[in-house]
Amino acid sequence: MRKTAIFFAAVVVTAAANVGAQKFENLALTPPMGWNSWNHFGCDVTEELIRKTADAMVFSGMREAGYLYINIDDCWHGERDGDGFIQPDAERFPSGMRALADYVHSKGLKLGIYSDAGWTTCAGRPGGRGHEYSDALTYARWGIDYLKYDWCATDGLNAEGAYQTMGAALASAGRPMVFSICEWGNNRPWEWGGGIGHMWRTTGDIAACFDCEVDHGDWSSWGVMRILDMQDGLRVHAGPGHWNDPDMMEVGNGMSESEDRAHFSMWAMLAAPLIAGNDLRTMSEATRRVLTNRRVIEVDQDPLGVQGFKYAERDGLEIWFKPLGGEDWAMCILNREALPRQVRLRWQDELVADEHSGRETLFKARLYRVRDLWSDADMGTTREALIAEVPGHDVLMVRLHRLLEAEEQ
Ligand code: GLA
Repeated sequence: MRKTAIFFAAVVVTAAANVGAQKFENLALTPPMGWNSWNHFGCDVTEELIRKTADAMVFSGMREAGYLYINIDDCWHGERDGDGFIQPDAERFPSGMRALADYVHSKGLKLGIYSDAGWTTCAGRPGGRGHEYSDALTYARWGIDYLKYDWCATDGLNAEGAYQTMGAALASAGRPMVFSICEWGNNRPWEWGGGIGHMWRTTGDIAACFDCEVDHGDWSSWGVMRILDMQDGLRVHAGPGHWNDPDMMEVGNGMSESEDRAHFSMWAMLAAPLIAGNDLRTMSEATRRVLTNRRVIEVDQDPLGVQGFKYAERDGLEIWFKPLGGEDWAMCILNREALPRQVRLRWQDELVADEHSGRETLFKARLYRVRDLWSDADMGTTREALIAEVPGHDVLMVRLHRLLEAEEQ
């Protein structure tokens, strides 16, 4: 009798532990790629903008390069109806969300939406608190593929519990959606987010500057270098289906071309979600080229899914490595200063070993071909020293392709 009771209790505990682990698996096996309205448009979102952005995603070549999600951020919301079901703002989205999702899907793309775990969104629209199941059902009926879930107006809530509730609601609604936890890193989401969502913000908001802090009174947003520094120590938590999210990109939102290139390269080294945040309809050719650089995108999307790491700081430069599938590596030399810097690197002198992935470059024993991922130039092999100049606020990013003995001459 006693034994039965203990056995029964154990089953209940196991079952309870599984409840929180609901999440759509096999989604976001590589970091999600797409676009989001917030960084450029803020609250100024309409169905017209979303349709035109979907069109631009196709004609710019971004869809071909791998960008899939068109994400509407804050301010699409209207009032809840008499039963508590959320409705879109009827002036901004007169055709409704189902029609918009159908349009986006007809372009071979997917539609994302935004809500908040608290009573209101950050811009004061209706939040999800207390409406999680009906909201999840509504999104599923509309054909939504991705939910970014924010953390404003959540006083008194437990972060893990709040995201667990929405994750369970999405699971019960039954339509696979990428679940993007936007809790700004306040409650260490890297420690609990992997079983609940597919990615989690690690920091406060990004700003379109290379290395600044923008003071908003009781909070700050951060330039690209500041956000990069805040990723320290987090790489062990990321992997296929569960990514650190250093926030959406500011490429094309006012930084110089070099700065945009450095930003994009470093997000790829971090295996970050690549969510463009600029106006795709009017972007310059230079911006388009940065966002669609396939060689850099391949580094981000590498199937191994190992986030890169800072290997050394040397002569004002940072040297980053990222292990890739097929025994390749990416290396990125980042110049955070405004003046150009010379690099001279004898590969055989570098001991690059990554405890997290168990990978080592073994430059003394192995030979790699070196390709510049921005100019696409062949830079020889790791037998020769790497000699280059890295312009200010820019990078030198290369792929090291391991040569098999037969390929070495
Ligand atoms: C927060 C988020 C941003 C954006 C805004 C919308 O600040 O971190 O990414 O979604 O809210 O109000």
